Amino acid sequence: MMRALGTLHTIGMGPGDPELLTLKALRLIGQAPVVAYFAKRGRVGHARSIAGARLHPDAIELRFEYPFTTELSIEDPRYPVDMGVFYEACAGRIAAHLDGGQDVALLCEGDPFFYGSSMYLYDRLHADYPHETVPGVTGMSGCWTAAGLPIAHGDDMLCVLPGTLDEDRLVDRLLGCDAAVIMKVGRNLAKIQRALRRAGMAERAVYVERGTQDGQCILPMTGMDGRAAPYFSMVLVQGRQRLR
Ligand SMILES: C[S@@+](CC[C@H](N)C(=O)[O-])C[C@H]1O[C@@H](n2cnc3c(N)ncnc32)[C@H](O)[C@@H]1O
Repeated sequence: MMRALGTLHTIGMGPGDPELLTLKALRLIGQAPVVAYFAKRGRVGHARSIAGARLHPDAIELRFEYPFTTELSIEDPRYPVDMGVFYEACAGRIAAHLDGGQDVALLCEGDPFFYGSSMYLYDRLHADYPHETVPGVTGMSGCWTAAGLPIAHGDDMLCVLPGTLDEDRLVDRLLGCDAAVIMKVGRNLAKIQRALRRAGMAERAVYVERGTQDGQCILPMTGMDGRAAPYFSMVLVQGRQRLR
């Protein structure tokens, strides 16, 4: 008799505070025989660290270490090729467990379908295996709540932008929205500051680093001069303020 395939559970782990995990995520990570997650070189992995000791004690861990993070620019033609090879290998390791009938929990910071690396594995596996995706509290939601910034009211237009865009494009998009979230700050900080100034938004922009996590830091963008930003940071611009 053929063995039933395992199920791929792609699990949103929220922005950092483990109390922001959903009940479903908690149940699935506590019972998964195999748990997979991404990690930067030398790091535990953000999604894995949110899980802490909540995994099943006998769980097999698949740690997928990125071949590079900032060493190769996203513009470099080698980037998509090398990352494609990496994601293919990760999907193969997960598929081996699913073929053997074991369920796999793939951990993802925030929400899996919102700029999550896990989507590249989901894309490769979901047609061939039973699968379920568990949404998570997004990083931006954790950050605007931590900063006490109701982000969009009424008919405000909220724009979510990757800080990797070039300066002119950032300005162009910022000018067309009321509220904004700029992700992936890191080495793009100075460019984002210039774009916010050009769009007339610098005074009301707020920087949030490691929102809801240990080491959380919240500052007005105007107080950021000379400061470096880690990858886990974003900039928030609150929409129009009005009382009803
Ligand atoms: C690859 S995206 C992952 C987004 C994630 N799937 C989500 O739902 O938020 C990584 C970017 O998310 C943002 N981010 C996610 N969680 C964050 C947090 N707790 N604090 C600050 N920024 C965060 C940062 O801008 C970071 O560069």
